Amino acid sequence: MSRILITSALPYINGIKHLGNLAGSMLPGDVWARFKRAQGHEVLYVCATDEHGTPAELAAAAAGQDVRTYCDEQHEIQKQAGAAFHLSFDFFGRSSSAANRGLTQHLAHALEAQGLVEERLDRMIYSIDDARFLPDRYVEGVCPHCAYPKARGDQCDSCGRLLDPTDLIEPYSTVSGSRNLEVRDTRHLYLLQTKLADTIRAWIDERSPSWQPLARSIAYKHLDEGLIDRGITRDLQWGVPVVGPDGASRPGLEGKVFYVWFDAPIEYIGATAEWAEATGGDWRSWWRLDEGAQDVRYVQFMGKDNVAFHTVSFPGTLLGSGEPWKTVDQLKAFNWLNWYGDKFSTSMGRGVFMDQALELLPADYWRWHLTAYGPEHSDAAFTWEQFQSTTNKDLADVLGNFVNRIVKFTESKFDGVVPEGGVAGPREEKLAADVKAGLATLTAEFEAMEFRKAAQAARALWVLGNEYLQEAAPWTALKTDRDQAAMSVRTGLSLVALFARVTAPFMPEAAGRIAATVGATELSWPGADEDLLTAVVPGQAVASAEVLFRKIEDAQVEEWRERFGGSEAA
Ligand code: 2FM
Ligand code: ZN
Repeated sequence: MSRILITSALPYINGIKHLGNLAGSMLPGDVWARFKRAQGHEVLYVCATDEHGTPAELAAAAAGQDVRTYCDEQHEIQKQAGAAFHLSFDFFGRSSSAANRGLTQHLAHALEAQGLVEERLDRMIYSIDDARFLPDRYVEGVCPHCAYPKARGDQCDSCGRLLDPTDLIEPYSTVSGSRNLEVRDTRHLYLLQTKLADTIRAWIDERSPSWQPLARSIAYKHLDEGLIDRGITRDLQWGVPVVGPDGASRPGLEGKVFYVWFDAPIEYIGATAEWAEATGGDWRSWWRLDEGAQDVRYVQFMGKDNVAFHTVSFPGTLLGSGEPWKTVDQLKAFNWLNWYGDKFSTSMGRGVFMDQALELLPADYWRWHLTAYGPEHSDAAFTWEQFQSTTNKDLADVLGNFVNRIVKFTESKFDGVVPEGGVAGPREEKLAADVKAGLATLTAEFEAMEFRKAAQAARALWVLGNEYLQEAAPWTALKTDRDQAAMSVRTGLSLVALFARVTAPFMPEAAGRIAATVGATELSWPGADEDLLTAVVPGQAVASAEVLFRKIEDAQVEEWRERFGGSEAA
């Protein structure tokens, strides 16, 4: 048993997240956390809303609310949406928490003490019409690298490069659209990443061999482009205030806050501290190498646009502090989930959002589809047609059908009680070998964080169940050899118990209902040497579930296309 710390990239506070956000960080983090807990490991899985910076300020302004009220409300909404999707966070915190404020200020001071932060006179874009500086997303323009016309001041969504607002060609204010801009002097703190480059490269060389190509390639791409010193403060009202070591406001930097990408990853630690405060836990034992974290395995989940921040900036913050902080061991990155041929878009309301999805179908349907057919090793498109097809085939025809058939048969022919009698024969021996091999594959794919392959391996196990029933045909055997039929039924019911266990990380709610049909509550991860085909005991009651999974009808697809779009591409 080991201690495993898991984090999913923090969702921005600016509104409820769409399925693309869910598929690329929170959902896989949760599936994996459940897998690891089921194996008996001590897991701490934390996440939080990312509440600072321009995304928060702009969204609050658009909602006509002050930022704090907006964040309070949106945090609750996102927390509830996560719970409704069965995201099993041990804690869902807030980057605006006191814990994060303290940690962010502390780390900035530690970096400064190491000679890695310095004050510079900076030249920033100032909007004369808006009477304010325009950091990050407050300014957009043409990307100097790829000519994308709507690159944001902090990053280009098209080529992925990190930008400074002054890099943009033909910039304009996103507050007012004004192009009446000028460059003005303002003082800021800079993180001297140039001085940290060798340390960061050595760390990536050491850690990344075990990462999958997507994360590793992005990490090296950013390293090889050359690290530059980056401003870590902003002229904004909302954020972690810059203070002197005594906590008082810092002369020359009054009214400035830290850049959102400086404080957001620190909230992984902050959320752990929030968890500790709420539960009496010890956050330092998860994060401080000198206080127990040396035996923690730390795994991060995120979309590919976040990788540079997690492989360069955040490790730079922790390593540069000169303090013994835990850094990530395994970094799992995801590609984009597209909406038909296009991007999901929060600002344009394109796609399906977490709350809307649950109005249509229970969380498990989405969890399965987004994990089994998610944007793992390449971008993937969400379409209603594919969602319908995978739901109907995998869930209704394969898993649901198997469970219903065997349980209903037990009810009708054996009074709803696991029957005794009969002895296993060659067919069961072969099944046992196939199940053992299939389970080994599934476990290995999960260990390797290959989510699509893990889902296919789970599905392959369900298929074994259907094949077995088809061949053993207890309904035929019953006419001539009741014991033989009883033994097949028992074997089938044991498979039901097994399927509940291997399905639980993907679809926890459905797994609970499947387990309940055979009176099981045990959802631990099955061991390689367990005798899985004799899990249910004669005499135990079974009871069929309400339909486990309903098929998606063509009329529903039609209706959803109407409501959410997508028909143009269908
Ligand atoms: O890209 C995003 O959605 C960011 N809010 C992710 C932050 S991850 C972490 F570093 F906080
Ligand atoms: Zn670009």
